[in-house]
Amino acid sequence: MLQDQDRIFTNLYGMHDRSLAGAKKRGLWDDTAGLIGKGRDWIIEEMKASGLRGRGGAGFPTGLKWSFMPKESDGRPAYLVVNADESEPGTCKDREIMRHDPHTLIEGCLIASFAMNAHACYIYIRGEYIREKEALQRAIDEAYDDGLLGRNAAGSGWDFDLYLHHGAGAYICGEETALLESLEGKKGMPRMKPPFPAGAGLYGCPTTVNNVESIAVAPTILRRGAGWFSGFGRQNNAGTKVFAISGHVNNPCVVEESMSIPFEELIEKHCGGIRGGWDNLLAVIPGGSSVPCVRGEKMKDAVMDFDYLRGDLGSGLGTAAVIVMDRSVDIIKAIWRLSKFYKHESCGQCTPCREGTGWMMRVMDRLVKGQASVEEIDMLFDVTKQVEGHTICALGDAAAWPIQGLIRNFRDEIEDRIRRQGGGAAIAAE
Ligand code: NAI
Ligand code: SF4
Repeated sequence: MLQDQDRIFTNLYGMHDRSLAGAKKRGLWDDTAGLIGKGRDWIIEEMKASGLRGRGGAGFPTGLKWSFMPKESDGRPAYLVVNADESEPGTCKDREIMRHDPHTLIEGCLIASFAMNAHACYIYIRGEYIREKEALQRAIDEAYDDGLLGRNAAGSGWDFDLYLHHGAGAYICGEETALLESLEGKKGMPRMKPPFPAGAGLYGCPTTVNNVESIAVAPTILRRGAGWFSGFGRQNNAGTKVFAISGHVNNPCVVEESMSIPFEELIEKHCGGIRGGWDNLLAVIPGGSSVPCVRGEKMKDAVMDFDYLRGDLGSGLGTAAVIVMDRSVDIIKAIWRLSKFYKHESCGQCTPCREGTGWMMRVMDRLVKGQASVEEIDMLFDVTKQVEGHTICALGDAAAWPIQGLIRNFRDEIEDRIRRQGGGAAIAAE
């Protein structure tokens, strides 16, 4: 288990003073100019060596992403954009960081922007995060007043401006290129990739889009060293990680832990166990609604990292939003609810997603009621495969994967319900 002295987010629960004075007491903004003085190459190499993989869900190596930005300016400005549009169902880790520990993010924005030659950074915050927006804006204002932002930011010699942009509640604006469109004042619709944002991002300029947690951990990594951070977790799955655990545990919480912590330890130590005991565990969605659910029994020996959850369990760490469901849950209905969500949030730009999400939701609806025929289970699986990988952005995959997880893990339950309700026969009689 992670020891207190190794926690980056020392005010995750808002127990301490969240003002700038409090943040400084906890070690933030300590000789930021000195870190910046070590130069771009040093910062990027340290970030690479730390093994940090993007904390927004995809796990792309952060230092590598930073290294894609042009070293010399070609006349276009460069931008850092922080994705704070945290909208993945189950996910509320960045919310806690912005609400209680905002200076970890603000200091990270300055250092990361310097490393990528950016004089400006935009934080795009989810529309529903109103209190978080206020807390973050207060902290940004304090930092400006203290000379930590603006001209010669923190005495580093680097001029740097930080802007907070409030979204309007569309899930798709969390997709990085839709987010950029939205920032530019357009309708939030994903762009084709490539080009990736480092080549042509905000206003066609070199841009890096990073998750809140990825940026907020950077100052501590640079202060304590890449070796310190990479000492947590397993190979290729390094560092500390903020987990948001919700659902049927005794104490739902958001907690920073070591990457690769065993699932059982995470739940026992921080959540007081499963409601009604481990035998009452039905299913877990280990990484926010986009990743497939897993049967409870299989999670007992799981470790919480990118490679284990994907490779061994066919699921994923995603946003590390751990949704725990006990035996009181109608798992078919729970996944149907996600299908409804994705159908609603599809931007409608590409056919497999626009049409496929509706198709999938309608068949899921019939599975919930036990009105489908058994053959339709395979047909539904086939439809998910037609959507997966055939769309402009990852929303298509996100709509397909939960259904695939349901069919892989709970096929017997689906067939049972069809038999009990009369299934295809009931339809024929309609
Ligand atoms: P992705 O794998 O396409 O990209 C990840 C990042 O790496 C992006 O910034 C992308 O620009 C960069 N990248 C990937 N390949 C690259 C290359 N060859 N060259 C340069 N840059 C490259 O994944 P995406 O669509 O950005 O994110 C999907 C994930 O987002 C899902 O796995 C899901 O877990 C997560 N998600 C998180 C949400 C949240 O609220 N935090 C909401 C919805 C989804
Ligand atoms: Fe829009 Fe869906 Fe296509 Fe993404 S996959 S661009 S959300 S229609």
